[in-house]
Order: sequence, then C-alpha cells, then structure tokens
Amino acid sequence: MVNKAVEEMVVMHHGEAMWEQIRAKAGVDVEVFMSNEGYPDEITYNLVGAASELLKTPAAEILHGFGEHWILHTAQKGYGGLMQANGRSLPEFLRNLPDFHSRVAMIFPKLQPPRFACTEITDHSLNLHYYSHREGLAEFVVGLMIGLGKMFKTPTTVRQTAAKAEGADHDIFEVTWIPAPRS
Ligand code: HEM
Repeated sequence: MVNKAVEEMVVMHHGEAMWEQIRAKAGVDVEVFMSNEGYPDEITYNLVGAASELLKTPAAEILHGFGEHWILHTAQKGYGGLMQANGRSLPEFLRNLPDFHSRVAMIFPKLQPPRFACTEITDHSLNLHYYSHREGLAEFVVGLMIGLGKMFKTPTTVRQTAAKAEGADHDIFEVTWIPAPRS
C-alpha cells in the first residue's frame, strides 16, 4: 500500500516516465504493487533513495511530501471512514492516534505499525511520541502532521524536540495549532 502510494505521488507530480526511471534505479522489479500484500521495507527505502537522486531533492523533503500526500490523498480518499471516525478536529484526531493502526490492522493483518503516545496536552499543543522499529522516518511524521493540519484546515507547526537518530530513546514532536474559536 505504501509503495503504491509512492508510485501514485510520483506519477501525479512528475509523470509515468519518471516513475519508470525511479523504479529501475531502485532495482525494483515489481511492476504492480498489490495494496494488501506485504513487501520488504528495503523496497520503499530504495524507491525514496532513487527518487531523491533523480529529482535532485533531499530524501527528507521527499519523506515530508509523502507524509502530506499520505493524509491528503491516500488516507482521505481510500479510507475516509476510518479517518473520520478517528476525530473531528486536529487535537481529537491526535489524541486518538495511539489506537488508529490497531483498526488499520483489521484490514492489513501483516501490518507492523508504529506506536504513538500523546503527553503535555493543552488546548493548542501536545507532545507526540513516536516509537518505531524503522529508522529515518521522522520527516515523514512531520509531513503527516502538516497534512492533518491541512485536512482539518487548522494552521499547524511541528518541531522535533528529541531524535532517535541523535541517541534519544525515541522521536518526540511538539505539535502546535491555532485553536478553533469557541462557538
Ligand atoms: C487510513 C489511514 C492509514 C492507513 C491505511 C495506514 C496504514 C499504514 C501502513 C500499511 C503502514 C506500513 C506499515 C507496514 O507495512 O507494516 C503504515 C505505516 C505508518 N503509519 Fe499509517 N496508516 C494510516 C494513517 C496514518 C496516520 C493518520 C498516521 C499518523 C498521523 C500514520 C503514521 C504512520 C507512520 C509514521 C508509519 C511508518 C511506519 C513505522 O514507523 O514503523 N498512519 N501505516
């Protein structure tokens, strides 16, 4: 499902021919990704690496863009019901995020999802803790948060305050938004 979404994003912005180049450079011989099939993580990392080289864009920027695309296209269009059920505002959605992938796992039994926790919750901010066995996806999480802000039409900023890549136990992001006026 993830690889299919990468393909869709590349084709949308850069066309079929660029996708074929990226797939070839990444050494990926799968021609059609099946969304309910599990693939080795290596395939996704290789696709991001090849896209970064061919599009002359840092991998972090690609992951950030992919996070937004995931929310605004993949999740919202393909899984609107699941997304709506998780919350009607950004803060509600984030507070329910820790349980989100357990519902996704009912559709994708092979899922190896990340774990999230929320602390320091105020009416305009919280700390999002991200635990994953995968490396290097912090910028993807930032893109996901920005995508959620856009989905809820809520101006959102994200600042990473702890990084596993720099020796911390896990990644922490301070997510800040402008609260909706009380009605
Ligand atoms: C209906 C919407 C969603 C679906 C169907 C979905 C599904 C998935 C799938 C299939 C993976 C790959 C894991 C694997 O293949 O084992 C994944 C990973 C991930 N998802 Fe979701 N997801 C959704 C929404 C979200 C949202 C809203 C967030 C956070 C805001 C999120 C955060 C992540 C992250 C950070 C990963 C990276 C994997 C890792 O760190 O181990 N996802 N998700």
